[in-house]
Amino acid sequence: MYEEVAGWYAAGMDDEMAKPMYAEGLPDFLTRVLATTSTEAAEDAPIVDVGCGSADALAVLARLDRVPPLVGLEPSAAMRAAAAAKIEALPPAAASRITIRDGSTATELESGSCRGIICFFVVHHVAATDLPALFAAWSKALVAGGQIYLAAWEGEGVVDYGGKYDIDAVLHPLSALTAGLGAAGLVVDTDATHTETDPDFGMSIAIIKAHKPGL
Ligand SMILES: C[S@@+](CC[C@H](N)C(=O)[O-])C[C@H]1O[C@@H](n2cnc3c(N)ncnc32)[C@H](O)[C@@H]1O
Repeated sequence: MYEEVAGWYAAGMDDEMAKPMYAEGLPDFLTRVLATTSTEAAEDAPIVDVGCGSADALAVLARLDRVPPLVGLEPSAAMRAAAAAKIEALPPAAASRITIRDGSTATELESGSCRGIICFFVVHHVAATDLPALFAAWSKALVAGGQIYLAAWEGEGVVDYGGKYDIDAVLHPLSALTAGLGAAGLVVDTDATHTETDPDFGMSIAIIKAHKPGL
């Protein structure tokens, strides 16, 4: 469904990355990951970006000090191609930290295999009835202390793209997202969780940080 818009989407993301949820939120997320998962056993475990699109968030993380390996899962071939182009433009050391795979929210992540999971503007493609299984899978996939950074279009009903794009999308209320993460055994970090209105789209965004309890 993103095949036709991937080029337009990837170009637009360059300006988006100045927004606080990326420019400040991603370094804060890495600080949390390093503070809670820096054990010898977890050293090589990656941060996984589920539905990474054109890999813009991964590109920000890849430039930061002490970042773990980075894996992007993305079902759209056109988006993966856009991601590859962005990664190629990074300094070689940063580019070498990122691996992009054909994958999605349905991809099984091995138990205890991730130091962190980020997922931005993807769960609107997941039905409310499927969220409990997704959050349970993330909880299982994280190492003890592992961190989640979730951003999602927020509210009730469906996303109205004005008939412009062939994209099905459903809104989830903040309360449903935080309750779902809690039900999966994750702790929502209220200091880093809020909603805000996106000035360009006029829609509400849920920004949530959560973690798996430590040892
Ligand atoms: C709005 S874009 C967000 C991309 C990226 N996370 C970002 O913030 O720029 C949504 C992305 O989710 C991908 N996608 C759609 N359904 C998905 C699913 N079930 N699991 C993972 N990704 C999915 C699309 O191909 C698209 O790249």
